[in-house]
Amino acid sequence: AGAADAAPSPTRSPPLPPPLLDDSKEERAAFLSAFDTLSGELVADVRSTYGLPPAAADYLAQVISYNVPHGKLTRGLAVGACFRAVAAASPAGAAAAVTPAAAQTARLLGWCVELLQACFLVADDIMDDSVTRRGRPCWYRRPEIGLKAVNDALLLEGLIYRVVKRHLGGAPCYGKVLELFHDATFTTEVGQLLDLTTMEGEAVGVGAGGDVDTAAFTPEALRRIYHYKTAHYSFYLPVALGMALAGAADGAEYDAAREVCMELGAYFQATDDYLDAFGDPAVTGKVGTDIEDRKVTWLAVDFLGRAPPAAVAEWRRLYGGAGGGAAAGGGGGSAVARVKELDPLSRVFPSWRGCPALSPSLVSGGG
Ligand code: FPP
Ligand code: MG
Repeated sequence: AGAADAAPSPTRSPPLPPPLLDDSKEERAAFLSAFDTLSGELVADVRSTYGLPPAAADYLAQVISYNVPHGKLTRGLAVGACFRAVAAASPAGAAAAVTPAAAQTARLLGWCVELLQACFLVADDIMDDSVTRRGRPCWYRRPEIGLKAVNDALLLEGLIYRVVKRHLGGAPCYGKVLELFHDATFTTEVGQLLDLTTMEGEAVGVGAGGDVDTAAFTPEALRRIYHYKTAHYSFYLPVALGMALAGAADGAEYDAAREVCMELGAYFQATDDYLDAFGDPAVTGKVGTDIEDRKVTWLAVDFLGRAPPAAVAEWRRLYGGAGGGAAAGGGGGSAVARVKELDPLSRVFPSWRGCPALSPSLVSGGG
């Protein structure tokens, strides 16, 4: 028989394994319900430990409720999904390991990842001069908040360690969980440093001016930014927390997981970069600022890798709003619009709808 005859018939294919990310209505509802309990518990804990007056306790409750629960929740849900998958593969099996109490602890750790995400986004929106997040004004843009948001970001981070201590203090994985959060936080901060400075190349701190120097816009620099600012905390952290909770102790297993997660995270951030320029804010919930901020993005690196010299020269004058304003931009009406117009991708995929691989269900809401 030829190769074509040997093709497996659909009826004889083995059944697909259950999806790793249990995004069932039931698990999502249990996850959201865990947040209600947790946020009340957190505010009560800080109020009683520090003797907060009612107004301060209310403020903290608002910081949490505005910034933590309104994202896609993929990071938070991934902790429990990974815990269940690893526990199922352990010699004792899932039935022994995934007790209702352990499943609830996994949800709380999932919310700790969402607290870290909230901390990062509150701070990132200030640094990126963003306007909207998850379809609403960025927290710091609210007139009554302003730069109090800097402290709010740090409060959100600090709450993680109160949850972990209260619910896992003394557990065998406590040290590993702390290490994972500390490493993910610092790695992301290094990534943010690179995100904010790589475009300056050799001229860090000298100040912007003149045409953009494209020397720093390399695939290698982009990959480093993606791995550190996004992939580590968005993909590796939830997976590693699930592993830790399931008792994984072999460093090589964590290394293997990290390698895969870094690739997934790079793809995710490339998608975020695309949507920053060409996504529909009504769907993504945020208005892009990467071009104004002269960011080293996938779009910029891809463009510079294949655009003709005349287009690159015009791009260098306009990227980052250099020479911006209606007069400078030509047909687009502004420097930013003209930069988008120069990018051939604007014609290939005039919006995310043209490109199924860039579905905003993966990235919408920026969180
Ligand atoms: C978003 O990238 C960037 C991050 C989520 C990382 C932010 C990291 C920090 C702000 C470090 C500061 C840490 C503390 C403890 C305050 P993006 O701007 O490409 O994503 P976006 O399109 O969703 O804005
Ligand atoms: Mg941003």
